[in-house]
Amino acid sequence: MVRNVAGLMTELEPEDFYLLSGVEQGMRFSEWVNRGKLPDLANLTAENVDYRLDRCMSRDLIQRKTIQYEGYQLTFEGYDALALRTFAQRDTIQGVGAPLGVGKESDVLEVQSYRPLALKFHREGYTNFREVKREREYTADHHHVSWLYTARKAAEREHEVLTELYPDVSVPRPVDHNRHAIVMEKFAGVELGRSKLDSSQAVGVLDLVLRELSTAYEAGYVHADMSEYNVAVSEQGVTVFDWPQAVSIDHDNARDLLERDVRNVVSFFRRKYPRPTPDVDVGSVVDRIVAGEFESVRQNA
Ligand SMILES: Nc1ncnc2c1ncn2[C@@H]1O[C@H](COP(=O)(O)OP(=O)(O)O)[C@@H](O)[C@H]1O
Ligand SMILES: [Mg+2]
Repeated sequence: MVRNVAGLMTELEPEDFYLLSGVEQGMRFSEWVNRGKLPDLANLTAENVDYRLDRCMSRDLIQRKTIQYEGYQLTFEGYDALALRTFAQRDTIQGVGAPLGVGKESDVLEVQSYRPLALKFHREGYTNFREVKREREYTADHHHVSWLYTARKAAEREHEVLTELYPDVSVPRPVDHNRHAIVMEKFAGVELGRSKLDSSQAVGVLDLVLRELSTAYEAGYVHADMSEYNVAVSEQGVTVFDWPQAVSIDHDNARDLLERDVRNVVSFFRRKYPRPTPDVDVGSVVDRIVAGEFESVRQNA
């Protein structure tokens, strides 16, 4: 569990951030940044580095390990603090509020802006460090995998996909991106998995979700992680969110991934709303999405 650092932001001084970004710079080259390199990286005197290291250590923004040398690295809290500072300096956010959700690989918070928005911190590479080796970033020593890099790439990708899809597909409007974090509009409603639909509405909602997948396909993307937990339902309609793993329709496995997405959604409706939901031929729905002809699961195949 990563602690919310919003409350620390007012205590931190500009030079604490020099130190944090010095450590961040150093982590491009080694997992643990040699203490001796910090004055240069952070542009601070050696004495000031000592002082800032203490301040940041006691707030769990960095951690220390002594290998052949004394090394430091950012914690996720330290990385969060750097991103929050950037968003504040750009005036993207004016304050941080309550948690909106904890996902498999993220923390999502409400933030204050011209209106309440959602801030998503990506945590990829934190829990399942080993699985992300395919995304390794080779550095000077050629065997260092950085969670910073993995989480940052995921946020970049999610922001890019949202920017491509909005507003044609009903996704949260992307507002800003920095490091491993994105700011987007807050969606209305609750997750499909936690909502209670009227029996008379269920098939209509299933069609709405599949139509969003169809429009996304037309725009060139397959979501690739669809489930009842990545769709919100409200009076206004549906919102499909959580896009970092989306693949291009040119991807070798695009069709299989699309089929899995459709199957996940359809199985959920069959399970939770068995009476109104017809027996859907998933393959034929996928064919119609690929052909740009999907309207409804009730449509004749
Ligand atoms: N734009 C948003 N507005 C409101 N709540 C959100 C928003 N984005 C995410 N959430 C909440 O945070 C949770 C996790 O977000 P999600 O994007 O699904 O990340 P994960 O990859 O960790 O599953 C969601 O289930 C939802 O409750
Ligand atoms: Mg999710």
